[in-house]
Amino acid sequence: MGSLYDYMRVPMDPSSEHAQRRYGAIKKFFDWALKEELVPRKRELRVLDLCAGTGIAGAALCETLHEWGIKGSLTLVDKRGEDLSLVKNWLSREEEVTGIVGDCLTELPKLRDFDVALLWGHSMAHFNPFQAAKLFRSVAEVLNPGGIFLIEETNNFERLFYRGRYRSPYVEVKSDEWALLSLDEGYSRKRDTITIGFYRIPNWELVERTELRFWDLAGIAGMLSMAFEKVGIVSKAEHGIVGVDDVVYALLPHRA
Ligand SMILES: C[S@@+](CC[C@H](N)C(=O)[O-])C[C@H]1O[C@@H](n2cnc3c(N)ncnc32)[C@H](O)[C@@H]1O
Repeated sequence: MGSLYDYMRVPMDPSSEHAQRRYGAIKKFFDWALKEELVPRKRELRVLDLCAGTGIAGAALCETLHEWGIKGSLTLVDKRGEDLSLVKNWLSREEEVTGIVGDCLTELPKLRDFDVALLWGHSMAHFNPFQAAKLFRSVAEVLNPGGIFLIEETNNFERLFYRGRYRSPYVEVKSDEWALLSLDEGYSRKRDTITIGFYRIPNWELVERTELRFWDLAGIAGMLSMAFEKVGIVSKAEHGIVGVDDVVYALLPHRA
């Protein structure tokens, strides 16, 4: 069985024009965030990119820091190793980059002293509420007292239930030869997750079956407030950058 991200990698693949435009938009967002002092302005910043994929977000932040005369070092965590090495394609200079292949939930307790933690590109779906609580507590532990956690997400309640965007089967991506379809294959009332099967047609080859949680922004912010003193949401309309979704931020991590 392959991985869903063998097929859904266009938004983060450095060779795709779409991803390059997205990279430019993420850089613009970080430039805005530095101006607004949402991202701390220090001489050096340690950046942690969680569920990093190709590291598009962490690299965009490090490049923006460089333009501001700030030295950045980057640590990437993803449970798939194959995309991590592509981070060099986003970087114009030899950065201090560490790639960690593993699950964020098990890797985070081994890490310390970061200034910025990122969870970019709608990755919250991979964490059910119990895992999210553990993730947020662990991020609060790895951040320095002046650190910030930024999550790019959307309001899935509005997207799926109010606007009715998800219908099973759903065509996720297609090319001339194949399409990736997703099917609703079950629901856990206790974890509030949907089991989704991803199939490659024409042969209905199962690519991955995974449990996803469709989060809303206030739900994420509310849970973050148990691990951080100050939490807020910067909506798309507020930051105004096309190509970057709503961003939830959390400052002043509580220590256990
Ligand atoms: C939606 S992609 C986002 C990638 C990238 N951050 C971006 O903005 O394009 C989600 C990524 O999370 C990784 N992932 C999913 N669950 C994970 C976990 N528990 N720990 C580490 N990585 C995980 C996947 O392999 C995938 O690369």
